[in-house]
Amino acid sequence: MFYSILLAFLAVFCCSGGGKGGQGKVFAAAAQLTQVLNYNNTAKAKPGMWVYIPDKLQSRALVVAIHSCQSSAQKYFANSKIPWRQGADRKRYVTVWPSSTTECWDVSSRASLSRDGGGDSTAIASMIRYAVREYGVEEGRVFVTGGSSGAMMSNVLAATYPDLISAVSLYSGVPAGCFVSASGAAAAWNNTCSAGQSTASPQKWGDVVRAMYPGYNGTRPRMQIWHGSVDATLAPRNYDETIKQWTNVFGVGTTPTSSTPDSPEKGYRRDDFGKSVEGIWAVGVGHSVPSHLDASEAWFGL
Ligand SMILES: *[C@@H]1O[C@H](CO)[C@@H](O)[C@H](O)[C@H]1NC(C)=O
Ligand SMILES: *[C@@H]1O[C@H](CO)[C@@H](O)[C@H](O)[C@H]1NC(C)=O
Ligand SMILES: *[C@@H]1O[C@H](CO)[C@@H](O)[C@H](O)[C@H]1NC(C)=O
Repeated sequence: MFYSILLAFLAVFCCSGGGKGGQGKVFAAAAQLTQVLNYNNTAKAKPGMWVYIPDKLQSRALVVAIHSCQSSAQKYFANSKIPWRQGADRKRYVTVWPSSTTECWDVSSRASLSRDGGGDSTAIASMIRYAVREYGVEEGRVFVTGGSSGAMMSNVLAATYPDLISAVSLYSGVPAGCFVSASGAAAAWNNTCSAGQSTASPQKWGDVVRAMYPGYNGTRPRMQIWHGSVDATLAPRNYDETIKQWTNVFGVGTTPTSSTPDSPEKGYRRDDFGKSVEGIWAVGVGHSVPSHLDASEAWFGL
């Protein structure tokens, strides 16, 4: 009895207003992954929204961490190889963890591949808008990351909601639109694309992005693209195709302005294409390239 009263007392005084953070006495490990049941979702698709606000929130920045296939917000958050909880604790920014209702994210239906089409991309955009309002995220400080299916979705979000996102750091995906389903099926796998057989000119790949949000002429998120040279799930060729896509969107060439070996670590190569596109080619690395917290945060300016 006494302990439950004590716990209730602590709950009220230690953690109330967790979203604001920073006030009053701080107790260790109060922050936890929490579901937001109503995030003002305007989409037909209904993925879950989970949020992790570190104790003593300092940075009014947001990182959206998007899971891979056969995962969920909770599994991704708990995965020790996924460093975004650690990043949030260290630099004290907000993180949002979308949770799919299908095995993989829908990056194949027209609904998800168009601005406000009502698919998963529209739902994640609703999460971003909600988080920006609710947690006071500053304009220009919304970042997106993900691995595999989450990386594909990162590309799709960059194409459909460029106005909401400042920068993207994605690990082992495919170009936006590459998984399109000829029959319009949602969350469908695409063997042609995964095998690296969906190839096109930079112009054509750029057109795919531009068609997802026709007429958009504002700023677009800076893109950091990681891929492993021996990826057996999403063929390494997808690295080149994704680079072609975004360099075209930014109007720069597909030849790197500089290439730095052993960066950000031994065996990796950093290819720069001006200030808006960076590729990181991980030699000898398969699916998927592990998240590199420092390098992704640096790309985000966190
Ligand atoms: C959610 O929608 C309601 C009703 O439109 C609105 O009053 C509220 O401010 C919205 N919340 C956020 C955080 O956007
Ligand atoms: C797979 O994607 C390509 C584009 O990358 C598309 O042309 C093709 O129709 C898709 N395949 C299926 C079976 O939907
Ligand atoms: C950019 O788009 C806005 C809104 O659609 C439009 O008003 C403006 O004229 C466009 N600017 C250019 C340079 O195309």
